Amino acid sequence: MTSALSVPTDWVRVRAPGKVNLSLRAAAPGPDGYHPLVTVFQAVSVYEDVVATAADDITVSMTGTGDQIVPTDSSNLAVRAAQLLASRAGISDGVHLHIDKRVPVAGGMAGGSADAAAALVATDELWGTGASREDLLDLGRQLGADVPFALMGHTAVGTGRGDMLTPAMVVGEFHWALAFAEHGLSTPRVFSALDDLRGDEVPESDPDSDIELMQALRTGDPHALGEALHNDLQPAALHLLPDLGRTVQTARDAGALGVVVCGSGPTVAALGRNRAHAQVVAASLTLAGVARQVVTATGPVPGARLLV
Ligand code: C5P
Repeated sequence: MTSALSVPTDWVRVRAPGKVNLSLRAAAPGPDGYHPLVTVFQAVSVYEDVVATAADDITVSMTGTGDQIVPTDSSNLAVRAAQLLASRAGISDGVHLHIDKRVPVAGGMAGGSADAAAALVATDELWGTGASREDLLDLGRQLGADVPFALMGHTAVGTGRGDMLTPAMVVGEFHWALAFAEHGLSTPRVFSALDDLRGDEVPESDPDSDIELMQALRTGDPHALGEALHNDLQPAALHLLPDLGRTVQTARDAGALGVVVCGSGPTVAALGRNRAHAQVVAASLTLAGVARQVVTATGPVPGARLLV
């Protein structure tokens, strides 16, 4: 029976966030080439919007940041997400996915993972697959290490490849200035630069490393959070893109409470005292000409969700 509240639709719109890693600690790579991580993700208000429309085949188009660089063939992560759900659910329907991109491509903010997460949520709704949250997280894990977090959103601790998630307790909102770089960085290249820089000197993992950071989140204290930001990949990203040092320094000079490269970079995240201060830091970064684009954002925000 179809009620007024469940009228079948031939299109849906889903919004998924980009992320900042508040902390990222990487061990030596395992036999699968992946580096075991302990990372604290925060989803921020820079979004990928995906409109999914019923179609015969599975296709994708894009507008927005970097739409010229991202492939639109079957290597596109959103296409792969739709294909994976269709094959898992035994569905032969198609979908056209239109992505409005605002997360920088190859920027360390997991924009491609956000597209995949949004595509999973959108096609599940469009096709009426009825996948559970756990099913979607499991499919997300098969698509990429950051996809589960784009589904979950908010703030979470990631272990394993970064894909085994535990939600973190956060009070209030944090305000960021995000500097998007002119060029992207390849994630595997940054991890391999990390291995080269470290040689045999891989730091021991310390379970207490992020105690101050978790405490800062629980108390909503941006000063303590700023001091606790950490990214093992930052020296590797700076090694590959030395100009990034100027971006980091400009944000520090502008009074940011803490500055960190997002994931494998090259986006630089600078924490403000409040919304107005994040805007001041963003203006300083813009004036210094050290980024292609500077935006402000708040976090945490929810993971991939239907927009009505
Ligand atoms: O899972 P995803 O496709 O996003 O990862 C891209 C690449 O980043 C991997 O192939 C691997 O080289 C590197 N990576 C890693 N350790 C992780 C996550 C990613 O070495 N925990």
